[in-house]
Amino acid sequence: MSTIDYSEKIPNNVNLGEDRALQRALEQWQPNFLNWWGDVGPEGSTDFEVYLRTAVSVDPQGWAQFGHTKMRDYRWGIFLNPGDAERKIHFGDHKGEKAWQDVPGEHRANLRRIIVTQGDTEPASVEQQRHLGLTCPSQYDLRNLFQVNVEEGRHLWAMVYLLHKHFGRDGREEAEALLERRSGDENNPRILGAFNEKTPDWLAFFMFTYFTDRDGKFQLCALAESAFDPLARTTKFMLTEEAHHMFVGESGVSRVIARTAQKMNELKTDDVGLLRAAGVIDLPTIQRYVNFHYSVTIDLFGADQSSNAAIFYSSGLKGRFEEGKRDDDHLLKGRTYKVIEAQGGQLVEKEVPMLNALNEVLRDDFIKDSVAGVGRWNKVLEKAGLPHRLAVPHKAFHRNIGALSGVKVSPDGRVVSEAEWQANVDQWLPSAADRAFVAGLMGRVVEPGKFANWIAPPVMGINRQPVDFDYVRFN
Ligand SMILES: [Fe+2]
Ligand SMILES: [Fe+2]
Repeated sequence: MSTIDYSEKIPNNVNLGEDRALQRALEQWQPNFLNWWGDVGPEGSTDFEVYLRTAVSVDPQGWAQFGHTKMRDYRWGIFLNPGDAERKIHFGDHKGEKAWQDVPGEHRANLRRIIVTQGDTEPASVEQQRHLGLTCPSQYDLRNLFQVNVEEGRHLWAMVYLLHKHFGRDGREEAEALLERRSGDENNPRILGAFNEKTPDWLAFFMFTYFTDRDGKFQLCALAESAFDPLARTTKFMLTEEAHHMFVGESGVSRVIARTAQKMNELKTDDVGLLRAAGVIDLPTIQRYVNFHYSVTIDLFGADQSSNAAIFYSSGLKGRFEEGKRDDDHLLKGRTYKVIEAQGGQLVEKEVPMLNALNEVLRDDFIKDSVAGVGRWNKVLEKAGLPHRLAVPHKAFHRNIGALSGVKVSPDGRVVSEAEWQANVDQWLPSAADRAFVAGLMGRVVEPGKFANWIAPPVMGINRQPVDFDYVRFN
């Protein structure tokens, strides 16, 4: 009956071959996954052999095996970080009790919702990035795009494994629904807003992997603290892969800036028209892309005050970023946190119970982390001897969730009128003209070692291969 050789086709450390119920569930789900990948995964890539990293175990030697692999033969594995049989819950009302190996009945609905929401983002980003291979700026970048795509596919497997293993029939239905929703679909969209936005060009892709995959990092870090041990161990392993996605974003934007800075010096100008005529992306456009991706990403953390966030924490389902490193009581009852709201045309801070503000706490941790990388982008400008600097906009800018949704706020944090917003929005967010200009730069460059005009080559290749290595064989 079995059509899948589990140890071969699905590398795993969860004894897949010995769990009949799980096997049956996956045997039904796997062909649907492959159909989904064929329909809305990376366009035209089926026959490409790509220099990909495949995880075959969680130890340092096994989790990053590099080699040319046909995209459709990629082995999406299922891995949990090694467990600690004595692990204790270290926050919330169950603090000090043993971590759960199974789902407690009273937390079942909330845990399922958390896993489905996380799981939904993984295929969504693959769908959003589907067309980018057609306009890649180099083989190196094309390989990185595909690496991110296959690993997001693996992250979907990771969440589907939890659903199949621990949630019975409901879990199987949710696993099917994860393949049925579509990014941007009017009738059946992905769950979270940013995952229904388009990723129309490579600057958007780099911004997405820098900011939005970093949202993934913070969500996964919070879930890695979970009292539900299989979730904690799964997300810990996902984090090892996520680091590369953020690297792709940070280094990608950095290379765009480096190329622009080079042209600015060559032409001794910061004139947008002249730089665009020279085929590079002007800094004001890059800044508007930062403003857009930053603001839609910080919305992903949810409402600034949320009773669900309090329940998820107190019941041990979702911790804070680096929960174990914080020296408080890990219960947070009676503590407060500052959130922002608009009052009488001003942004004001307001103290609220911290338990209800845990989305905001995680958002602020994300902000600290993402600002650091923007500082590194500015170093590129500094090194080039240019006075220009990029910055993230104010936290209240362009928000669509929580108390700030609908309040018009400028990037520097002033509440503005609808008229002022309309008069300036094209300076603050990418305009149709910006998008059209960037789209016009996108053309496919695939000769080994060649790069599109608008982006600098990377400092080094992948896995110590040369920059002009044949990362993709097109067959
Ligand atoms: Fe992911
Ligand atoms: Fe990712």
